[in-house]
This record gives sequence, structure tokens and C-alpha cells, in this order.
Amino acid sequence: MFDVITRKEYWDWLNELEPEAKYRGFLRRTRRNLALRRYGFGMGDEHTLKTIQDAYVYTRLRKEKGKKILEAGGGNSRVLRLLRKANECWLVDKFEGMGNGPLRRPFLGGVKIVEDYLGEFNPILRAGYFDTLFSISVVEHIPLDYLDAFFRDCVRVLKPGGRMIHAIDTYIYDPADRQNPELQEMMERTKCYLAYADRPDLGIRLVRPPQVDANLVFSCRYASQPDNVLYKWQQGFATIKREIAQMVSFKAEWIKV
Ligand SMILES: C[S@@+](CC[C@H](N)C(=O)[O-])C[C@H]1O[C@@H](n2cnc3c(N)ncnc32)[C@H](O)[C@@H]1O
Repeated sequence: MFDVITRKEYWDWLNELEPEAKYRGFLRRTRRNLALRRYGFGMGDEHTLKTIQDAYVYTRLRKEKGKKILEAGGGNSRVLRLLRKANECWLVDKFEGMGNGPLRRPFLGGVKIVEDYLGEFNPILRAGYFDTLFSISVVEHIPLDYLDAFFRDCVRVLKPGGRMIHAIDTYIYDPADRQNPELQEMMERTKCYLAYADRPDLGIRLVRPPQVDANLVFSCRYASQPDNVLYKWQQGFATIKREIAQMVSFKAEWIKV
């Protein structure tokens, strides 16, 4: 599967997760933290691309028990806090602030932390050890010339039959903006991700064939980053894409065959 998360899916996940007391508490805290600390806006504005991505990943993994789960680039992980009681949870990240991630190792009791990047083939992360690997808002920060090492290392640490789930931020544009260089860059990145759709040489394939390709344009169905978040970022660092594009998330899931 390689597709863009829709608003309907997000709302369905929220409805599915709402009866779960620990998720309700988690969601309240996450929204408050993101809304007040990171974005600095008031309560009531708390749905962001992160809450959309968290809902996607957590809905996929919430029933897992006794599994070995690795989060790549987890930063100060939110989803592992919900999975750590029932599973053996690991996180790999260098905490160097890449993509605005944390600069310090977080306190995450019950989670084994490896201070490195995936792509470095760190032997502490043993080959064939994990049932599931996931990431949220990480893959879009991997330099394209490092993507192959990243994917190869992801595949290395998974068991046969293991799953790799990535929620990947991207900007999508109107067809009229096709010549925009930032759009060209996004299309190039999407092409590179899709080069891993079915890779017998690496032993991975998407669980379903991709539903989108690099030529995708915005659809009103897509869940997107709210304008107030983009406005906030634009004040920090201005870029044309925030004015003319929409920020959405790919949901992508592979199986190691
Ligand atoms: C935008 S932050 C996202 C952090 C967290 N997943 C979240 O959603 O809040 C990107 C994170 O990816 C990490 N990262 C980048 N490349 C990585 C790699 N090759 N392996 C592991 N982590 C990586 C960065 O250090 C950073 O903490």
C-alpha cells in the first residue's frame, strides 16, 4: 500500500480509537503538547498532520502483543508510549535535531534507545529481529543519496514476514504549478520511494500495489496540515510551497517476504 491519507480515514480511525481510554488520554495530551508547545496556538486547533499520522500508525499496531517493534527516528516518541506495555519497543535516532526533531535523548521508560541512524547498519539492531518497524515524519528528511542505505537497513532488521510502515510528509500541488522547482523535487522524491514498491532483490514489496504515483495532485478528500500550522512555519522560514501547495501524508506499508 502506498497512498495519501484521506480525511474520512482519519475520522474513522479517531472513531475507532475514541473508546480506548488510554488513547483518549494520549490524544488529549498529544494535542495539547503539539498545539501549545510546538505550534503555539490555542486549544481547539489541535488536529495536525502529526495527529493524523499517529492515528494511522497506532490504529495499525494497537492490537499487537508480545511483538518486537522498532520506531525509526522516533524523537520523543508518542506512539511507543502506547505500545510499550504490551510489546518490546525500541527506538533508533541520533537526536541531532534533524527536521526539527529533539536534540536530547528523551526519557522513555521501557523503550530501548539506540543512538544512531538507520542506514548505519548498527549491530545493536540485530538482523531479522523485529516484527514491525515504523516511522512518522522521518523518510522525507532522509537525503536521497542515503535512502537506499536507510531502506536496506530497515529490511535487514526485520524478520521474514515483518512489516515496515512509514507515514511520510509530502507537499502536493495544483496541476498548473507543474513547473515549480519545489514540486519537481517532491515528484523526484516520490519516484524514489516508489522505486522500492516491489524489490525482490531486497526481499520487500508493498502489501498492496501503490494507489498513487509521482504525478499526484491534491484531492479534496486528502487530510492535510491545517493552514495555521503552515502560517506558523512560514513565519520562521518562508517558502513558496506553503503558499501554493498542501501538506499531506503518505501511508506506506511493506512486507518482508
Ligand atoms: C521531523 S522529526 C520526527 C520525529 C518524530 N518521529 C515525530 O513524529 O515527532 C525527524 C526525526 O527523524 C530522525 N532521523 C532522520 N534520519 C534518520 C535515520 N536515518 N534513522 C533514524 N532516525 C532518523 C531525526 O533525527 C528526527 O528526530
